[in-house]
Amino acid sequence: MAATGDAPPNSRPSEWDGAAYDRLADPQARWGLAVLDRLVLGGNETVLDAGCGSGRVTEELLGRLPGGRVIALDASSSMLDEARRRLAPHPDRVHFVQVDLLELGPAVLGDRCPVDAVLSTATFHWVTDHDLLFGNLASVLRPGGQLVAQCGAQGNIDALLAAVRSTGVARVGTWLYASPYETVTRLRHAGFVDVDVWTNPEPTYFDDPVRLAEFLSTVILREHVATLSPDERGPFVQRVVAAMPEPVVDYVRLNMVARKRP
Ligand SMILES: C[S@@+](CC[C@H](N)C(=O)[O-])C[C@H]1O[C@@H](n2cnc3c(N)ncnc32)[C@H](O)[C@@H]1O
Repeated sequence: MAATGDAPPNSRPSEWDGAAYDRLADPQARWGLAVLDRLVLGGNETVLDAGCGSGRVTEELLGRLPGGRVIALDASSSMLDEARRRLAPHPDRVHFVQVDLLELGPAVLGDRCPVDAVLSTATFHWVTDHDLLFGNLASVLRPGGQLVAQCGAQGNIDALLAAVRSTGVARVGTWLYASPYETVTRLRHAGFVDVDVWTNPEPTYFDDPVRLAEFLSTVILREHVATLSPDERGPFVQRVVAAMPEPVVDYVRLNMVARKRP
């Protein structure tokens, strides 16, 4: 296995391949639209997209804010490059911020703080301290402001990870797949009220094995794949695909809707 010292630029844990993600993330875009529907908007709010990725969901959010603004925040420069390309037609209504959500606070957003709402899709499970995360989000929300989010839940991709382990690899990523109970407790502790948290299964079928391999390599197995030499990457992902009982990723989503205490 290659050492990470000579790693290519997209092998840092925070880095992604934004262009490949944009092309492959149809499941995340589909779920994201359903999450976006939970946001109650008048159309002139300022909304923080926390972990905007390549901007597919952000673009839809912007479409629901004809008189409002979006702050598109992400830690990954590759994702933000892609989001800037996608959102280029709206230069006056989108502000891009590259920061780790664990370092977010009013000073990061400056005079754009406080925001009216926070939207986040497919991101929070990549952030491994949810107490700090929710506290940081509360610190930039106005009193009464909405938090609407979805991420991986406890039990997410269990079957896929069993397939990975059967290939002899113990650990392929760093995630926090929290339970609804833990999340309700953390959100209340961080100053949220009207907290509603629930899970839903989202088994996702891939009819094209090439696309499944690309998806695994770009999204779910990204951290581990980045530690391998280029020659090792394809065969590793193929071993995982072969070990999956069916071409289905057993996603389980954690949904949360809450308001910052008025
Ligand atoms: C799977 S993508 C989701 C992107 C987009 N929201 C979507 O639904 O398609 C996860 C995103 O979270 C970002 N991310 C992960 N951890 C982060 C952190 N600690 N701070 C900021 N962004 C983070 C990643 O860079 C990536 O763009």
